[in-house]
Amino acid sequence: SWTPASIVDQAVAAVQEKVGPDARAVLGLSGGVDSSVAAVLCHRALGDRLTCIFVDNGLLREGEGEAVERMFGEHFRLNLIHVKAGERFLDALAGVSDPEQKRKIIGRVFIEVFEEEARKIPGASFLVQGTLYPDVIESVSFKGPSAVIKSHHNVGGLPERMQLGLVEPLRELFKDEVRAAGEALAMPREVLYRQPFPGPGLAVRCLGAVSAEKLRVLREADAIFEEEVRAAGLYEVLWQSFCVLLPVRTVGVMGDERTYDEVIALRAVHSTDGMTADWARLPYDLVGRVSARIINEVRGVNRVVLDVSSKPPSTIEWE
Ligand code: XMP
Repeated sequence: SWTPASIVDQAVAAVQEKVGPDARAVLGLSGGVDSSVAAVLCHRALGDRLTCIFVDNGLLREGEGEAVERMFGEHFRLNLIHVKAGERFLDALAGVSDPEQKRKIIGRVFIEVFEEEARKIPGASFLVQGTLYPDVIESVSFKGPSAVIKSHHNVGGLPERMQLGLVEPLRELFKDEVRAAGEALAMPREVLYRQPFPGPGLAVRCLGAVSAEKLRVLREADAIFEEEVRAAGLYEVLWQSFCVLLPVRTVGVMGDERTYDEVIALRAVHSTDGMTADWARLPYDLVGRVSARIINEVRGVNRVVLDVSSKPPSTIEWE
């Protein structure tokens, strides 16, 4: 019968067989569950013959880049390249407010940066992807916008352009089996049970045109919400919980001064697969604490609102 340890052993053996005794492989590490488990698993199979490329698009949550470095570079001692490409993404996004346009730009720049880095690795002849079984099914059946949504994940045409063989060690696994494999690989809970986070990152939670200052506001607010949700013991109960920065400013008052500042929306949902979702009835004292902290601690925000919409007809993200 299947145990997490036997899943790992089989997958490690399959990777070794496919790559052979001498070849090298590259992997795009995002910090999400799938690419993280694929990375540690392939590291066990290939050691230093695996290079992980972490494209930091500057659209990540607070502390995420450092956390990936600590976890995979220092703790697991993977061969890790942290590409700090935030400025390049911001430049490409300047003045762009259409959501699909933003996604396309981020996908394109990601591929450019990844490919540039991959070409610097001498002798890489395989590309590792953290494709799961449901992704395999999804790509052969019509699932509406999710096909588009996932498009940034595969490094569009790169395997052919660079003549890389594809290694997909998670291809036969479901999410819960991936997590179990991660546990068998001694990976920490904070990686394996992280809430889903979209590839385009904070860019699609910063409504309208993105700027460094707007990202700063959103990142600070989001860190407070996450901290309070965790403290309330709800982080793993919720499918997702995050902040959205609205593209309007509203009037407020601070001391004797009138303010004209940003609005943060709190979004928290229950879901099992992201296809449908119910807005989470967060405790009012939690909502109140988060609101007070965001308005007090985040410069530039004077109002917090709560999203009480379910999917459908709303979506989980606002863009
Ligand atoms: P929606 O907003 O469509 O989101 O209800 C459903 C799930 O998909 C995630 N999502 C994305 N993931 N790239 C991603 O990798 C994207 O462009 C994207 N858009 C939405 C969303 O966070 C939710 O879990």
